[in-house]
Amino acid sequence: MTKLCDSYQRPINYLRISVTDRCNLRCIYCMPPEGIPLMSHDDILRYEEIWLVARAAAELGITKIRLTGGEPLVRAGLTDLVAMLAGIEGVDDISMTTNGVLLERHAAELKKAGLHRVNISLDSLRPERFHKITRMGKLDDVLRGMEAAKQVGLNPVKVNMVVIRDTNDDEIPHFALLTVSDAWHVRFIEFMPFMEKGKKNHSLVPVSEIMERIEDLGKLEPSAPNGIGPAKYYRFPGAKGTIGFISPVTRCFCQQCNRLRLTADGKLRPCLFSDAEIDLRGPLRQGAAVEDIKQLIRQAVVSKPERHKLVAGVTCERFMSQIGG
Ligand code: 5AD
Ligand code: SF4
Repeated sequence: MTKLCDSYQRPINYLRISVTDRCNLRCIYCMPPEGIPLMSHDDILRYEEIWLVARAAAELGITKIRLTGGEPLVRAGLTDLVAMLAGIEGVDDISMTTNGVLLERHAAELKKAGLHRVNISLDSLRPERFHKITRMGKLDDVLRGMEAAKQVGLNPVKVNMVVIRDTNDDEIPHFALLTVSDAWHVRFIEFMPFMEKGKKNHSLVPVSEIMERIEDLGKLEPSAPNGIGPAKYYRFPGAKGTIGFISPVTRCFCQQCNRLRLTADGKLRPCLFSDAEIDLRGPLRQGAAVEDIKQLIRQAVVSKPERHKLVAGVTCERFMSQIGG
C-alpha cells in the first residue's frame, strides 16, 4: 500500500465523512435559528457511493474513519453504513461525532455493526442552559445516550465542550472535575467564529486561560494520548478520566493535520477552513471506478494547504453543520 502524504510531508490516514447536513439541534455557534437551506436528497451521497470513496481511501492508506454531520444519527439506516465501512480492508478505527440525542436508541446496534467509539458534543450540564445553547435540546437525552454508549462499550466515550465566553465558561471546573470520579474524557475546544465571519472573536476563551482555570483546582499532569488528533491530554493525579485541550485558534495544530473531509454532498475538502473542494459526486454518478476516485483523492491530498488563516479572521463559506467539524 502506498502511504498517503501531502506536499508538506504530513501523512494522511484519517477521513471524516459527513453523512448529512441535517441536525435535530440548532446550536448557537453552528447554525442560525431558522436552520440553513438544506441540501436536497439527491445531492447527498448514497451509502454505496460513500462506501466506494472509503474503499478508494483505504487502498491509499486511510485507516481511520469518523462519521459526522450535521447530526449523523438523523440519517436513516446509518447502522448499515457503519457495517459497510467496517467490512473495508485496512480500516481499523470507525468513530462518530454525535450530539447524543438519539444515541440511547442506537448505541447497541451501532456497536454490533462495528462502530468503535463516539465523541459527544455537550456544552453544558445545566438543563436550561443546554436548552438555550442548542435552542431545543434536552440534556437528559444526551446523558442517557452517553450512558448507553458506555454500557455497550463504545469506548472511550469522549465529551467535546466548546467553551464560549459568558455563555458556558463558568462550567469549566464542573466538566473538569467529572474526570476525577468518573471515566469522563472531556475535551475543551476553543470557539471558532463560524457564525461571525470577519468580526472579532469575543466569545473565544484561549486554551491557555481554560487550563489556568482548571489548574486552580489542582495541578494537571500530561497523559498519554488516547487517540490521534489535535488534542493535548492531561489528567488530575489519580483521576479516572482525562482532560484534553483543542486549540484551533490560538495554537494552530495544522502541522500535525492528518485528515481529509468528505461533505455530505460529495466534495472532498482538503482543509476545514478552505473552500477549495474537489467534487466526487459528479464522477461517481458518471460511473467512476475505485481507481478514478483514488486519483481524485490524491489530488485533494496534494492540494492541502499548509495551515488555515483563522487567526487573521478568515473562515469559510460553509456552516459547520455542512462540514462536520
Ligand atoms: N467552534 C468550535 N467547535 C465547534 N464545533 C462545532 N462548531 C464549532 C465552533 N464554532 C464542534 C462541535 C462538535 C464538533 C464536530 O465540532 O461541538 O463537537
Ligand atoms: Fe447539530 Fe452539532 Fe451543529 Fe449542534 S453543533 S447544531 S448538534 S451539528
